[in-house]
Amino acid sequence: MGQFRFLTGGESHGKGLVAIVEGMVADLSLEEVYINEELKRRQQGYGRGPRMKIEQDKAEILAGVRYGLTTGSPIGLFITNRDWQNWQEQLSISPIETEIEPVTCPRPGHADLAGVIKYGLKDIRPIMERASARETAARVAVGAVARRFLEELGIAVHSHTVAIGPHHWEREEAGLINWQKVEASPVRCAHVKLEKAMMAVIDEAKANGDTLGGIFEVIATGVPIGLGSHVSWDRRLDGKIAQAIMSINAVKGVEIGAGFNLADLKGSQGPDVIEPNPRSKVKDLPWRRVTNRAGGIEGGISNGEDILVRAAVKPIATLTSPLPSIDLGSGEVAKAHYERSDICVVPAAGVIAEAMLAIVLADACLEKFGGDNLKETLANCGNYLRNIS
Ligand SMILES: Cc1cc2nc3c(=O)[nH]c(=O)nc-3n(C[C@H](O)[C@H](O)[C@H](O)COP(=O)(O)O)c2cc1C
Repeated sequence: MGQFRFLTGGESHGKGLVAIVEGMVADLSLEEVYINEELKRRQQGYGRGPRMKIEQDKAEILAGVRYGLTTGSPIGLFITNRDWQNWQEQLSISPIETEIEPVTCPRPGHADLAGVIKYGLKDIRPIMERASARETAARVAVGAVARRFLEELGIAVHSHTVAIGPHHWEREEAGLINWQKVEASPVRCAHVKLEKAMMAVIDEAKANGDTLGGIFEVIATGVPIGLGSHVSWDRRLDGKIAQAIMSINAVKGVEIGAGFNLADLKGSQGPDVIEPNPRSKVKDLPWRRVTNRAGGIEGGISNGEDILVRAAVKPIATLTSPLPSIDLGSGEVAKAHYERSDICVVPAAGVIAEAMLAIVLADACLEKFGGDNLKETLANCGNYLRNIS
């Protein structure tokens, strides 16, 4: 990360999650209610576990905002874990007298085994606590700061579910997405028939004690041409986006634009040809693209089209009848540790991916347009856009 960066801290059942966000311009309006709306969106989704009912996340802004406007100083955010009261002994920060039974049976599909070995611990608990996707609540709060900034630049970020289990919505069929329908859908899918089918397979998986993965898509609109760069590997916007999305728990594949489908096309079919733009079109530029197979990025640089990112989410690895494992204490065959769990997290993962994409784009905009105050950034951006139209 460059201009706009953040760190999170906190355990799944600890006192709370903390984030420090640095590099945001001054004079951006930012309020807790705005962040909390995003946190609420992350907690929804058909197939989430009972924990979502306990949490109802709320972020507290601790620093970097005065009278509803950012000051340019680091922004401190805190989200309380409402379940903390039940975990105070297990996750006590000070040494305690009571003996707490360690977790010794690693769950396949989790950081448990590799983590406990890497950090030389006897108890898997600290690994489970930090590797948990609970941490993504903090990322969504940070993403809300980024999103607020992007709004000022006319950039919007949305997500929707395109597959759960075998039910899949191809990009070509999807066309323009109705985002209001997506927000109202329990699985974040605007295709009514598919939505019902997705909910039915989630019910079926739940009844069978199983879980499901799927695919979400994140779309950024209004992205100016020229974010990121072709000049060095670590400046490429596509590379930054792939890393940010792949860093989301349970994401196992990321594609930009037509992605893996491009492998099946010929060179004559792949690229989005450039043609003159009749000046009446929405974007007042002398060229236009009829297709967007590149997903809005060519050579690591945004090309002015919508940024399209899809990601594959694996089925949750915690099952009600736990998978085989071993007890690391005795070396004997054992069932993996069980902790209450979600059935399908694809809709929530999409919301988290919105936050991650917003963070990458906010950083790229700050790198391109600079500025320490929102007015300065907007003026720089305005000048740049005037010069290319
Ligand atoms: C929103 C969200 C919620 C999740 N909830 C669970 C859960 O309840 N149980 C579980 O076993 N894994 C859950 N996961 C997935 C694990 O966090 C993830 O699979 C695990 O940390 C291992 O990381 P990896 O799959 O990226 O390798 C969730 C992921 C996300 C994005």
